[in-house]
Amino acid sequence: MKKILFICFAVAFQFSYGQKFDLAKTPPMGWNSWNTFACNINEDLIRKTADAMVSSGMKDAGYMYINLDDCWHGQRDVQGFIHEDATRFPSGIKALADYVHSKGLKIGIYSDAGTQTCGGKPGSRGHEYQDAITYANWGIDYLKYDWCNTDGLKADEAYKTMRDAIYSAGRPMVFSICEWGESKPWTWASNIGHSWRTTGDITNCWDCEMGYGTWSKLSVLSILDKQMELRQYAGPGHWNDPDMLEVGNGLSFSENRAHFSLWCMLAAPLIAGNDIRNMSNETREILTNKEAIGIDQDVLGVQCYKMFGRGAFEVYAKPMSNNEVAICFLNRGETPVNFDFNWKDFSISDGISGKSYDFVKTKFKLFDCWQKKEIGTTAVPFKSTVQPHDVILLRLKP
Ligand code: GLA
Repeated sequence: MKKILFICFAVAFQFSYGQKFDLAKTPPMGWNSWNTFACNINEDLIRKTADAMVSSGMKDAGYMYINLDDCWHGQRDVQGFIHEDATRFPSGIKALADYVHSKGLKIGIYSDAGTQTCGGKPGSRGHEYQDAITYANWGIDYLKYDWCNTDGLKADEAYKTMRDAIYSAGRPMVFSICEWGESKPWTWASNIGHSWRTTGDITNCWDCEMGYGTWSKLSVLSILDKQMELRQYAGPGHWNDPDMLEVGNGLSFSENRAHFSLWCMLAAPLIAGNDIRNMSNETREILTNKEAIGIDQDVLGVQCYKMFGRGAFEVYAKPMSNNEVAICFLNRGETPVNFDFNWKDFSISDGISGKSYDFVKTKFKLFDCWQKKEIGTTAVPFKSTVQPHDVILLRLKP
């Protein structure tokens, strides 16, 4: 009897663990409504966004999830089941999910571990299993789970409860933990979620912090700096999440491509946060740059580290599979930086990935991801200029 119980337990554990692992072997890619639309969402917007995901080439570039953020909710019924806001989603979320699936895409939804979401809608506290069943019945593939109004809850326990509710509902869902890094989820969540937010919310600013009393919104550079200590926690199936993209939301062209390049270097989930129905060609080209996305989606799943820094000039390295390595030269500042980078002085030996790159013994070809062409080799020093608020993003191939 004991043996049978043990086998049942082992099979159940393997099923749930395997289910979690398989979903996000590389960082999830998709779109989310919050950064542009906040609470102003409805089914027409989501359908047209799914259409645009296909027609813009984003789907072909790897973007898969169409994610509703806060404020899709109506009320709970007398039995406690949640319903959509019938004015904004008159056809229902199930029909919307069917539509998104018919485009070959997947659909995500949002809830909160507390009594109410950050936008004041019904949270999942005390309704976790009911909500997971509802989402599974609707055909949901991804759940972002927020952390407002959670007085008295312990984050690891609350997120575990929802993970188990998803498992028991039986439909695989990416589980995106959004507690802003407050209880260091990277130390406890690798078996619970597929990603965890590491900071408070992003805003469309290059280098600033906007205070709102008890909390603040963070810029591209302030979020980047907060990721550096966390790289050992990221890997296939469990990613650090430096928040959704602000590409196309008012940053300059160079800031947009620097932001995108850095998120790719960080092996971050790539969740577009702009209005993809009406984006410029420039924005579309940034979001669909295949070489940059290839850095993010590399199967080794290693987050970058800072290999050099002097003033506003910084150099990041991301070890990759097939003995490739990505290098990003960043100019945080206001004036152009001319540099002369002698590869031979910067051979790489990375304890976390176990990868090393010897630029004295091996010659690598330099592929410039934004110029989209080969620009030389590591046999000679790399002499170039990186413009203010911009990057040069290279893939080094042996
Ligand atoms: C929090 C999250 C955001 C967004 C809003 C919605 O602030 O961090 O990403 O989901 O809530 O209210």
